[in-house]
Amino acid sequence: MDKTDAIEELYREEIMDHYQNPRNFGRIENADVSYHDYNPVCGDEITIQLKMENGTVKEAMFTGKGCAISQAAASMLTGEIGGKSAKDIVAMKQDEMLKIIRINPGPVRIKCAMLALRAVQKGIVQHESSKYGVAK
Ligand code: FES
Repeated sequence: MDKTDAIEELYREEIMDHYQNPRNFGRIENADVSYHDYNPVCGDEITIQLKMENGTVKEAMFTGKGCAISQAAASMLTGEIGGKSAKDIVAMKQDEMLKIIRINPGPVRIKCAMLALRAVQKGIVQHESSKYGVAK
């Protein structure tokens, strides 16, 4: 096994660890943001809940069921977004999510990796819209 393979193996193990022992798994009482999303291709799902304070994420939790990448990505993402502003999170792109999970799952599984981020972003947009009465 060369060095690159060894590092990739380590990252894969990290994914499996987050899948088997998800961090931030559960519900938030009186969450400000609550958004359920799913992948229509496979039915895997994520519900994201956030507590916000002054436009930044104070707490992030999730529940869900599905493949290792989708659930591990939610576990890792909820650990990363605490303290980030709603604006910065909505602006996050695919490459930033891939940096968080530290693997590139390839074109077929990219939707798995993006499910949690999309749910967070849609939830924040929905929350902001309702706050300012912006029509959807
Ligand atoms: Fe369904 Fe990964 S196979 S989200």
